[in-house]
Amino acid sequence: MTQTIDGKRISQEIKDELKERVAALAGEGKEAALAVIQVGDDAASAVYVNNKKKACAYIGIKSVSYELPAETAEEELLALIAKLNGDGSVNGILVQLPLPAHINEDNVIRAIDPSKDVDGFHPENVGKLVIGEPGFVSCTPAGIVQLLKRSEIPIAGKRCVVVGRSNIVGKPMAILMLRENATVTVAHSKTEDLPQLCREADILIVAIGKPRFITADYVKEGAVVIDVGIHRDEKNRLCGDVDYEAVAPLTSAITPVPGGVGPMTIAMLMYNCVKTMS
Ligand code: GUN
Repeated sequence: MTQTIDGKRISQEIKDELKERVAALAGEGKEAALAVIQVGDDAASAVYVNNKKKACAYIGIKSVSYELPAETAEEELLALIAKLNGDGSVNGILVQLPLPAHINEDNVIRAIDPSKDVDGFHPENVGKLVIGEPGFVSCTPAGIVQLLKRSEIPIAGKRCVVVGRSNIVGKPMAILMLRENATVTVAHSKTEDLPQLCREADILIVAIGKPRFITADYVKEGAVVIDVGIHRDEKNRLCGDVDYEAVAPLTSAITPVPGGVGPMTIAMLMYNCVKTMS
């Protein structure tokens, strides 16, 4: 029997826990505000930013939006971040990515005060993750660990293959799974015989950004498959990096798209925001 890992339900459960915690902290006179910055009018980013603001409202965190035109100079964005770093009423700062091509993302990420970096992208937070110190963890990989744990899927001792090596998902994902005592391999576009390697995985986590790339040939019978991708196919239907129809029957558990990993990113962003309060 294949277990469908219900990210919608689990993310709701986390948001409800956080809502209670925020109410309790409010009773102690503590409150939180998240600054959300979007540069330009990328349609997908606008949807994500809106969902983040809605989640803030749901759990009781104030969100302050900054919608800047696409032609905003890097210096202007850095100046806004500096102002928010120094603003004691703002606990979290999020700059929605991607940024317009003339702005250097690394400069922007490094400009955010690490103690307000609720995305967990700042090198100081990435470094803390690597050496096992407390800090902010990138939301999508942190959400995947929650999906596994709350679905009672054992991680320790299992062979985990992460396909993709981005700074936001693949690399932190590998470190987190290592922290959970999995035996981790990171695969990427240059990996030789990728299907063979993926077939060794007890837990296969896919973040490669290619629609329905992972077919039955990549999956061992009984494996757990986590799909980070989200795309629109030629018929305008949402799909992931995994060919769900072909792969699901082979697995012991799998995340659907939509309703798997996606909702967890926002739940973990809210988790990071609440962490700034105490
Ligand atoms: N763009 C795509 N995913 C993310 C994310 O998790 N955080 C931010 N800031 N931008 C993104």
